[in-house]
Amino acid sequence: MTDQSPPRRDHIRSFVLRQGRVSAAQSRHHDEGMPKWGVPYSAAPLDLAGVFGRAAPRILEIGCGMGETTATIAAAHPENDYLGIEVHTPGVGSLLKEIATRGLTNLRVVQHDAVEVVRDMIAPDTLAGIHVFFPDPWPKKRHHKRRLLQPPVVSLLASRLAPGGYLHCATDWEEYARQMLEVLSGEPLLANTAADFAPRPDYRPQTKFEARGLRLGHGVWDVVFRRRPEKSPAGG
Ligand SMILES: C[S@@+](CC[C@H](N)C(=O)[O-])C[C@H]1O[C@@H](n2cnc3c(N)ncnc32)[C@H](O)[C@@H]1O
Repeated sequence: MTDQSPPRRDHIRSFVLRQGRVSAAQSRHHDEGMPKWGVPYSAAPLDLAGVFGRAAPRILEIGCGMGETTATIAAAHPENDYLGIEVHTPGVGSLLKEIATRGLTNLRVVQHDAVEVVRDMIAPDTLAGIHVFFPDPWPKKRHHKRRLLQPPVVSLLASRLAPGGYLHCATDWEEYARQMLEVLSGEPLLANTAADFAPRPDYRPQTKFEARGLRLGHGVWDVVFRRRPEKSPAGG
C-alpha cells in the first residue's frame, strides 16, 4: 500500500462525522496551525523523533475533543511529547489555537481515525502512555458496537505501549466504565495498577463539566493499566 491509498478499514468507526459548525476562529487556527503542528495521516510508521525533534517519552491522546485537557497536560509536562488524535475539524481548530496561544512545542495533532493512526503510524513497543478521556459512550444498546474500547482495539493499543507504559481511560458513564475494566482486564499484555477503578491521577485535570457532574452526584471513573514487561507479539 502506498501512502496515497485509502486506509484499510476492517473495523466499525467509533465516530460519525457530522457537518458541525466551524467558527471563523477555529477555521483560521486550523488553516494556520495544521502546516505547523499537524501530522498528516500516512500508512507508514511515523518518525516521532523527527516530528518532535528530540527523544522524549511519547504520550498519545485519543479523541481530544476541544483540546483543553490535552493542552493543559502538555503545558504542565514539558518533559513529555504529546500526540493528540481527533477527527472533528472544530476540535482540531481549537486544539491548534491552544498550541499557538500557549506556545507549546511538545504537542502535535493528527486529524484522522485513531484506530488507523495507531495501527499504521505507531510502531509496537514505543509509547510511554495512552490517554482515552471521556470517549463517546454510545449509550444505546444497538450502538455499543461503536464504542472504541473493545478487545481488538485494546489489544492494538497495548501492543504500541512500551513495557511499563500505561493506558489511562476515564468516563462518566458507569456501564462503559465497567466495560473498560472488563476489556482491559482481559488483555494479557496489561495489568491493572489498582484493585479495580483507580484514583484520578494528578496529571488529568478535572474539567468544569466533570466538576459540575460530581457536584450533582454523578460519578467519574478512571481505569489505569500498565503494559507488562514482555514484548508484544506485534513487536516480534
Ligand atoms: C465525548 S468527546 C471527549 C473529548 C475529550 N477527550 C474530553 O474529555 O472532553 C470524544 C471525542 O473523541 C473523538 N473520537 C471518537 N472516536 C475517534 C476516533 N476513532 N479517532 C479520533 N477521534 C475520535 C470525537 O470526535 C470526540 O471529539
